[in-house]
Amino acid sequence: MKLLVFGATGGTGREVVQQALAQGHEVTAYARNPARLGDITHPGLQVVRGDVLDAAAVEKAVLGHEAVLCAIGAGAGRTSLREDGTRNIVRAMQKADVRRLICQSSMGVGDSRANLGLLTKYVIVPLFLRHAFADHERQEAVVKESDLDWTIVRPPHLKDGPRTGTYRHGFPSTDTGIQGKISRADVADFMLKQLATDTYLHLTPGVSY
Ligand SMILES: NC(=O)c1ccc[n+]([C@@H]2O[C@H](COP(=O)([O-])OP(=O)(O)OC[C@H]3O[C@@H](n4cnc5c(N)ncnc54)[C@H](OP(=O)(O)O)[C@@H]3O)[C@@H](O)[C@H]2O)c1
Repeated sequence: MKLLVFGATGGTGREVVQQALAQGHEVTAYARNPARLGDITHPGLQVVRGDVLDAAAVEKAVLGHEAVLCAIGAGAGRTSLREDGTRNIVRAMQKADVRRLICQSSMGVGDSRANLGLLTKYVIVPLFLRHAFADHERQEAVVKESDLDWTIVRPPHLKDGPRTGTYRHGFPSTDTGIQGKISRADVADFMLKQLATDTYLHLTPGVSY
């Protein structure tokens, strides 16, 4: 497929780009600073320099693609980057009639708050992650209010590590048996797998070891 990846220079985004290329997709990496893609080179890779907050640039980038994967992030501080960037992506997709959107959010958002461990729920999120979570809540609302064929992916704590392809997904919000961590490579694996299935169409699956 012809894929467009936002957040392509980030921890998860780089994994999405590399795995997608390895699977034979044609990939456009949208990046403010393409140099941050580092040593990723592949005949199937195109790089577009741009800011996700630049609506006109996003609109132009979306043209000609079959699906969009969004892994944008902005750290833990007060921000509306995820919300505003995702709104630009959604509007551009609607205009270009590109239907499939796989968007990375976070475990703990919406009804998945129940999946969090006690320390994360009552200490880490309120003290350190409340701004990022508020941004993800608004980001998810933008996606859910759209008429696109969307899937929102909610990983817990991200870590470096290999793609194992072995993780739990789509568990209920009452499931507290999950480990609460997953490698960025496995999040990318799950995001890319969504391109071939409608299992989680218009749903917000968690993904975790
Ligand atoms: N860290 C965790 O444990 C965790 C857990 C659950 C969910 N999440 C969420 O998962 C998402 C991805 O996390 P990550 O750690 O893989 O991301 P990350 O490494 O922080 O990367 C974020 C990406 O967003 C891009 N970006 C930021 N502002 C941009 C802009 N204005 N225009 C274009 N691109 C922009 C960055 O580009 P630059 O290279 O130009 O900065 C980078 O490619 C985040 O939204 C995060 O909140 C994180």
